[in-house]
Amino acid sequence: MKTVFVKSYGCQMNVYDAARISDVMAAEGYGEAATADTADLVILNTCHIREKAAEKVYSELGRLRALKAERLAAGREPGEIVVAGCVAQAEGREIIRRQPAVDAVVGPQSYHRLPELLREARRGGPAVDTEFPPGAGKFAGLPAVSVGRSRGVSAFLTVQEGCDKFCTFCVVPYTRGAEVSRPVSAVLDEARRLLDGGVREITLLGQNVNAYHGLDEGGRPATLAGLIERLAGLPGLVRLRYTTSHPNDMADDLIAAHRDVPALMPFLHLPIQAGADRVLAAMNRRHSADGYRRLIDRIRAARPDIALSSDFIVGFPGETEAEFEATLRLAAEIGFASAYSFKYSPRPGTPAEERPGQVAEAVKTERLARLHAQVEADRQRFNRATIGRHLDLLIEKPGRHPGQLGGRSPYLQAVHVDGLDARIGDVVPVLVTEAGPNSLSARPAARGVDSLSGQMTAAA
Ligand code: SAH
Ligand code: SF4
Ligand code: F3S
Repeated sequence: MKTVFVKSYGCQMNVYDAARISDVMAAEGYGEAATADTADLVILNTCHIREKAAEKVYSELGRLRALKAERLAAGREPGEIVVAGCVAQAEGREIIRRQPAVDAVVGPQSYHRLPELLREARRGGPAVDTEFPPGAGKFAGLPAVSVGRSRGVSAFLTVQEGCDKFCTFCVVPYTRGAEVSRPVSAVLDEARRLLDGGVREITLLGQNVNAYHGLDEGGRPATLAGLIERLAGLPGLVRLRYTTSHPNDMADDLIAAHRDVPALMPFLHLPIQAGADRVLAAMNRRHSADGYRRLIDRIRAARPDIALSSDFIVGFPGETEAEFEATLRLAAEIGFASAYSFKYSPRPGTPAEERPGQVAEAVKTERLARLHAQVEADRQRFNRATIGRHLDLLIEKPGRHPGQLGGRSPYLQAVHVDGLDARIGDVVPVLVTEAGPNSLSARPAARGVDSLSGQMTAAA
């Protein structure tokens, strides 16, 4: 049997896509290889978001080219190399020019065509498909998600793809195309398959997941909140999450769902990027810093214990020291439970790439360190605040030591617990005893009431 190894970079959507690519190749008779070195087919599922991410791909391709040469020298089949994902979409045939060992380049909207592309490559040399097919596109062409492979208790499910926002720093509208939402029935079908296969938690994915507007069975556009309500009613589902959201699409019904739908977890990744209005406008984010603060107030009114998360960019063209300090202030005021900060990276073809006022690398490095220190302190503070609380833990895997189990809190914190009588997939109340740098420690808890959310926890 031939085997395939898919290596993913970048965001969670690439993780989801990797599983779908494996499904496509499984239908062609390919098993999954444990490493690239042993695989007949290696697929790099790439990310173009920052320069570093894109450049990683070429060093990995160099290594794979050497592997092909070694195999040929040993009189074996060289195997095949495919570049998928957002670098594939952005660079297309240029990838083959830079690395001729590549057999096929396939953009995110064409994964259903991968077997055909490989056949084309075997006949006539390197094949490229970076089209955006009209209509239902890749989802209609892909086989149903497989539940044979072990996916764990937590799974991703893409409900929306692409972006129409055109933030001036970002490649995603060009690499993933225009916003497309999958129909409600397609999402429900896929969720049922996942749940039948043992999944307990589903994270709905989209580049702008809260702009979801897929059609329901009556042909009317649904909202993300409407979709969440439908999913929450499926037997076997215990937890729902969604990511990534844009502040301007945080509709009232979605905020209300955080109050009304028990399965919807109290965690929200809602990137703001910067704290100064001039920078936000230059980024084309189309909201102000105060608008974001008011939005957070409304979300916290609906769900007081919600854990908030953000992305930040430092050193956007023209960002002054005072403007950067506005970002620091905003982060401190909100008190994020987690946050990712990045140095601005000029991306080919985006409006900000050639703007005057590019910030010196040393300044970006210094600002990143200051912001990172700030958000890291807030993260630790959030984690410490859960010490002494009873939290429901979704058990995901065995812990590092015998008798230990690992799982996630409602706030997406990693938690390990000793001496708990539970199975993978159970939701069990635990008492948080310690907050380490990267995870919480807990012990089994008796039936009780969570001190903050006021929700009854299940019996231990
Ligand atoms: N759709 C999501 C995520 C986009 S990519 C959203 O709208 O937030 C994830 C993060 O990468 C972004 O939130 C942004 O903080 C960062 N990012 C995107 N382009 C970047 C660039 N050119 N330089 C640095 N960071 C960037
Ligand atoms: Fe990129 Fe902005 Fe779209 Fe997010 S909303 S994917 S940052 S263009
Ligand atoms: Fe990267 Fe594409 Fe995701 S650029 S962040 S893999 S949408």
